[in-house]
Amino acid sequence: MAIGVTTPTGNVGSELIRRLVQAGERPVALVRDPSRLGPDVATTVEARRGDLADIRYVTEALQGVDALYLVIPEVLDVDDPEADAEALAEAVIAAAEAARVGRIVFQSSLGAEQRTGAGFISALGRVEERLDALSARTGTRVCHLRCGYLFSNLLMDLDGLRRGELRNAIPEDTPLPWVAPTDVAAVACGRLLSTAWTGRVAQAVSGPEDLTFPQVAAIVADATGWPVTYSRDADADVRRGLADAGFSQAAVDSIAGMSEGIRDAYHAAERTAVATTPTSLVGWVRQHLPRGTG
Ligand SMILES: NC(=O)c1ccc[n+]([C@@H]2O[C@H](COP(=O)([O-])OP(=O)(O)OC[C@H]3O[C@@H](n4cnc5c(N)ncnc54)[C@H](OP(=O)(O)O)[C@@H]3O)[C@@H](O)[C@H]2O)c1
Repeated sequence: MAIGVTTPTGNVGSELIRRLVQAGERPVALVRDPSRLGPDVATTVEARRGDLADIRYVTEALQGVDALYLVIPEVLDVDDPEADAEALAEAVIAAAEAARVGRIVFQSSLGAEQRTGAGFISALGRVEERLDALSARTGTRVCHLRCGYLFSNLLMDLDGLRRGELRNAIPEDTPLPWVAPTDVAAVACGRLLSTAWTGRVAQAVSGPEDLTFPQVAAIVADATGWPVTYSRDADADVRRGLADAGFSQAAVDSIAGMSEGIRDAYHAAERTAVATTPTSLVGWVRQHLPRGTG
């Protein structure tokens, strides 16, 4: 059995590669630069080098792959991020169909069930629809992992966090399911290795507990010693800031739409035992954020 992994250098992909190697697999990494895979796994994966936007490359790279972990990179500094993401997804899905990949596990998001109104997350929802259509047409098994808010988002502005700034447009009293990338990888690894499931599945991956942004700020402050507090940005200010920074109107909608849409999606979400994963935010912070150097 060959398992293919897209974005194997990413937050989730890198953890997934490690878990598959630990399980005794030799995963096929679809990677732009194999040197970025890291020395500990470089000899235990089969790196097939190329860009996911290159359909000929993807078609060749998926030959012999039985199960695929699909991540659509979130490239936002382009004219139309959602159109680009959906075009890339369509091409990769066509390549997977041509290569007769039997199982596809897709890294989707909380809120993707909203096909509109949640920015880039809605584009992931439309990718889910394309995968569902593939499944209906060919019998390919597809599993959408609707991940919560990744802990690794805290790394996007590490300097700001060190100075004490945690900013977002999510209301202070809105809890979200925050989840560790390694927990998403663990669920993905199980789905990829198992042949017991069939059809089309959507599964939330929600972390151990729902947290508001002020709670997250307090956890980070306590674990790092950094003076972190949460400041909520108004939606209009976020949009204006992105436009001033040169983002296109479509990109502004894709980015701002995520925080605008996800707060409503949360209220519709249901926490279940299956969706709950173990890694705590405080444990992740201790591992990834250097205490006291702020
Ligand atoms: N952030 C969240 O809270 C959240 C929640 C739910 C779902 N999601 C979704 O999860 C996905 C991101 O997952 P992640 O955070 O694990 O990934 P990530 O760390 O953002 O990694 C993305 C990887 O994609 C690779 N890449 C970018 N463009 C590529 C291309 N054209 N061809 C091949 N590789 C390319 C990059 O690798 P190299 O630079 O090394 O080539 C990079 O390591 C997005 O679809 C996002 O919408 C995110």
